Amino acid sequence: MSNNVLDLALIPGDGIGPEVTAEALKVLKATLGEDNVKATEYGLGAEHWLATGETLTDQTLEAIRGHQAILFGAVGAAPNDTRIPSGLLEREILLKLRFAFDHAVNFRPSVLYPGAQSPLANPGDIDFVVFREGTEGLYVGNGGSMRTGTPHEVANETSVNTAYGVERVVRAAFEYAQQRDRKHVTLLHKHNVLVHAGHLWNRIVNEVGEEFPDVTHDYLHVDAAMIFLTTDPSRFDVILTDNMFGDIVTDLAAAVTGGIGLAASGNLNINGTAPSMYEPVHGSAPDIAGTQQADPTAAILSAAILLEQEGYADAAQRVHKAVWEDLAARDTSARTTQQVGDAIAAQV
Ligand code: NAI
Ligand code: MG
Repeated sequence: MSNNVLDLALIPGDGIGPEVTAEALKVLKATLGEDNVKATEYGLGAEHWLATGETLTDQTLEAIRGHQAILFGAVGAAPNDTRIPSGLLEREILLKLRFAFDHAVNFRPSVLYPGAQSPLANPGDIDFVVFREGTEGLYVGNGGSMRTGTPHEVANETSVNTAYGVERVVRAAFEYAQQRDRKHVTLLHKHNVLVHAGHLWNRIVNEVGEEFPDVTHDYLHVDAAMIFLTTDPSRFDVILTDNMFGDIVTDLAAAVTGGIGLAASGNLNINGTAPSMYEPVHGSAPDIAGTQQADPTAAILSAAILLEQEGYADAAQRVHKAVWEDLAARDTSARTTQQVGDAIAAQV
């Protein structure tokens, strides 16, 4: 394959996943040229599991590993679909990909675009990025239970924080902050209570921070930070936090910047050992699946992050500009998922 062809693994998934990734792919092709994007589709998710009993085999995982990058929609069944064990698809597909491909940084920008509606009365000029650690913390499945189902049940879930894992996300956050105007990193944790993990994070931020004299940094307890995220969200530039806190913080961040339909992310492998994966923050939205009501903007902005991270900075800029223009021109008239994708694709 020639060097300038973007070789993608496309995992549309369930619910609105296929609807929104179709529009993101359309915009990628409009930006780079039809022939410069090669997408190989992997049909993973609820239907595949129901038909085969397989979630994500090691063989498929290795095939996906061979691509340059992954564009992912969403997986997950409707809550009332009793045929599929709760959380199975999310754990065995999404989390498996993030861990197997060493996605150390979960990169989630929060921008209040012109025309986007924040539920806050005085949102200000919101433009920050969350660096959420992606491979450790409470999400590694380091736990167990005993006397399960009895009144004496014990259930443990232990957070894993390694100096290696913390340092690489801290470093990535400082390097990114250095390229921004405000050059400021805010660590969110709870080191007054979670002393072991909290002190490790704090110490490494202070150490790495010394290597970046032009980047300022501060610290907030994560609960207090939630107050500022609603009263003064424009104070943040780069937010740095662990896997669990980052999961929660980014949902609130998505809400204050105009909703889940606009929130994009990249799961970044920062040492080049496996493809990075780009996906909207939202899930499969079974309540609106198949109705063309889903906003594909989050998936399209995830494609813009893909372009930026994979070395197509100019193309990324054009997608961003097209999204800005589309959002600024939005009124109350309803458009289908496809119409939004067509409008943005026409402007890049
Ligand atoms: P969800 O994000 O799918 O939906 C929450 C609400 O937001 C729903 O009312 C939905 O209609 C709305 N919404 C979501 N995306 C939208 C869009 N692009 N445009 C307009 N409205 C949108 O979260 P929920 O309902 O908690 O989860 C549904 C399924 O998705 C579950 O099976 C869950 O486990 C899974 N899930 C998967 C994720 C992933 O694959 N990354 C992430 C979150 C949930
Ligand atoms: Mg979440």
